[in-house]
Amino acid sequence: MANIATLEINGEKYEFPLIEGTEKEVAIDIKNLRSTTGGVTTIDPGYKNTGSCESSITFLDGEKGILSYRGYSIEELAEKADFLEVAYLLIFGELPTKEQNDKFHEDIKAESLVDDDIRKIVDAFPKSAHPMGVLSSLTSALTAFNPSSVNVDSEEDMYKSVVRILGKFPVLVAWTLRKKQGLPLDYGDKNLGYVENVLKMMFKKPNEEYVQNKIVVDALDKLLILHADHEQNCSTSTVRIVGSSHAGLFASLSAGISALWGPLHGGANQAVLEMLEAIKEDGGDTKKYMAKAKDKEDPFRLMGFGHRVYKNFDPRAKIIKVAADEVLADLGVEDPILEIAKGLEQEALNDDYFVKRKLYPNVDFYSGIIYRGMGIPTDMFTVMFALGRLPGWIAQWREMRLRKEPIGRPRQLYIGETKRPFVPINKR
Ligand code: CMC
Repeated sequence: MANIATLEINGEKYEFPLIEGTEKEVAIDIKNLRSTTGGVTTIDPGYKNTGSCESSITFLDGEKGILSYRGYSIEELAEKADFLEVAYLLIFGELPTKEQNDKFHEDIKAESLVDDDIRKIVDAFPKSAHPMGVLSSLTSALTAFNPSSVNVDSEEDMYKSVVRILGKFPVLVAWTLRKKQGLPLDYGDKNLGYVENVLKMMFKKPNEEYVQNKIVVDALDKLLILHADHEQNCSTSTVRIVGSSHAGLFASLSAGISALWGPLHGGANQAVLEMLEAIKEDGGDTKKYMAKAKDKEDPFRLMGFGHRVYKNFDPRAKIIKVAADEVLADLGVEDPILEIAKGLEQEALNDDYFVKRKLYPNVDFYSGIIYRGMGIPTDMFTVMFALGRLPGWIAQWREMRLRKEPIGRPRQLYIGETKRPFVPINKR
């Protein structure tokens, strides 16, 4: 294949290099488009065709339903690795040796205390606050308590910020839940594994011992791995673009959490459960809701279906569907909502509307059912997604800083009024 793309504008030809990624994807390099064409720009709402960066972290092929982190398939990682190993892999590029893994965990544990004044901020939120709003605020507040984490130019300083947030974030996650449930805030247990500690911090009651359930620990570990990165999605792009102004890691992450909150992105896991509940309450008539999803006059969408990139099964959804069956059976939970979900999936997979538009179940379709089986409240689901996505956001932020990427600043095509004279207020 020629490695040049030619663009003709009003009879004038311009050439742009084609660049090829390691998985043979091809991109037209338009870095010099405006300077060579005298200011012509591109329009691509939702960035459906625009690559914002070159990245060596995560590869996904939406047509084939392939997802890998640093070259390792998501299926293999979900089966064989644990969350902290995957976090290390994403952030530093290689699976850790035993020594590296132990040191990483020790460094994270050493940073797992949160300034006690942050409790006062937690106290100030109403119990009714959505946990994602609380989490985003607390993550941003961490900057004030750790000012040295803002200007991190050396890799050493970056490392300190990375282990600091990996240590403190689970505490914040747990506190968002405990606040809602009126439980005293807890600092967890340094002797536990990362995921076990999160669970204990979330669920320990002050008047009884917390007993770990291996099924729950393993299932959460797997869910966190499946959510750990997904290349340039809405929240990750947010983290990269905020970070590109050198605003600091915690501020960038806080912005990413806000982006994840939306129901078209990470908030879909909560929306799926609410949708399944509503269908159950309404008599379980899945056909009625299928018809609503296809009706262009109706704003209803089948939550947990469709994806910007996957035009095939989301590989994460396949793993989660199997896990949902196993976890609920192991925990002895019989959830009628699982049957409604399976029914909807079957109907959608055989429905022309969904088939033609290549709408398949995504990662969020079954994850909420597992979270619910574990006893996690619905409005905490997206917080669990954020906990899983944290290493991916960190890895992408770090890559962006190490590659010294320029500040993110898209162009636009102005379609407003052209120059006109000011009209004084008494003449308008
Ligand atoms: N239910 C019904 N119709 C749908 C759905 C859906 N869930 N998703 C897409 N469509 C239709 C859409 O109406 C459009 O139809 P037409 O071509 O007739 O106008 C067509 O499919 C293409 O949809 P789109 O909105 O242009 O696609 P997009 O790439 O902009 O949006 C999406 C992707 C994920 C936002 C969308 O599929 C959606 O809203 N899904 C439901 C929310 C959801 O589950 N989000 C979680 C995504 S996975 C987790 C994550 O990574 O964030």
